Amino acid sequence: MIQTVLSNKILLINEALDYFLPGEKEYPQTINRAMRYSIFAGGKRIRPLLILLTTELFGSKTERGIPPACAMEMIHTYSLIHDDLPAMDNDDYRRGCLTSHKVFGEATAILAGDALLTLAFDILSREGFEDKDSKYVFSYLTEVPAEVRLKVIGELSRAAGVKGMIGGQIVDLESEGKNIAPETIDYINSHKTGALLVACFRIGVILGGGGDDDLERLTACANAIGSTFQVVDDLLDLEGNREKMGKDLGADLKLKKATYLSHFGLKESKALRDHKFNESIKILDYYGNRADILKKLIRFMLYRDY
Ligand code: IPE
Ligand code: IPE
Ligand code: MG
Ligand code: MG
Ligand code: MG
Repeated sequence: MIQTVLSNKILLINEALDYFLPGEKEYPQTINRAMRYSIFAGGKRIRPLLILLTTELFGSKTERGIPPACAMEMIHTYSLIHDDLPAMDNDDYRRGCLTSHKVFGEATAILAGDALLTLAFDILSREGFEDKDSKYVFSYLTEVPAEVRLKVIGELSRAAGVKGMIGGQIVDLESEGKNIAPETIDYINSHKTGALLVACFRIGVILGGGGDDDLERLTACANAIGSTFQVVDDLLDLEGNREKMGKDLGADLKLKKATYLSHFGLKESKALRDHKFNESIKILDYYGNRADILKKLIRFMLYRDY
């Protein structure tokens, strides 16, 4: 089980998230509680793990990837809080818990999302004085040159923004109930979900000190699985297990979402998943057994049941 193999890393990520988030007892408590509620509701931590494993692929220490890994998880979690809002997908459950707006109300849920998004960039642009006792920030600031840190911020902001996740989300919403072209489905998937996943690989290469050819290779690998991760999410919405998924299923049918699955059907969706999985693994073969653990994580991503 990949989760067991990676449990030390997941622990490290959770410990660092706890360090970076404002304490529940700090003023103003409501927003701090809401941010922590969604972050610690039980996500799979796929994105931070991708950053750490890609960084390590190039022989760099795990610690230097921790601040970007936390920033990425915060942005991902913000995207989920907003995605679940009544104005968007209107979902009651997420990560096995009630959604943020169900617990805290819409206004607080919106602000908790905003606060996670902005905290991500705060973490990545710190000078480090206030954080000199933290092993995570210390290693990032002392070992990663400022121009590399700037590149990381650029990757993350572009992937989260209108040319990335936000762009995908707006086309997703506008396509509900419509019979859209396959290219538009691909735009939705590669943007709303693929963009952040691709950024994880790219940030890992940049932090790990890989070259331009590595960046190209890992970007191609990430492109293969980025959109496919969404196709699998859509498959699970149709035939997953509600308890395992921790959210209500059948939402895509209810909202008449335009998906790869609704357009091409079950068989073709699974064939695409298999094809894209093989494509990504072939690219990673270049790195020999150093990439074994990353390959295992990719297998989990595309054949998961939650
Ligand atoms: C869910 O992502 C939303 C999509 C972008 C498909 P994950 O399946 O990674 O969700 P968590 O982080 O484990 O909750
Ligand atoms: C998720 O797409 C995309 C983002 C949150 C950016 P979905 O709307 O399909 O994700 P779930 O099914 O609610 O997790
Ligand atoms: Mg959505
Ligand atoms: Mg949704
Ligand atoms: Mg979904």
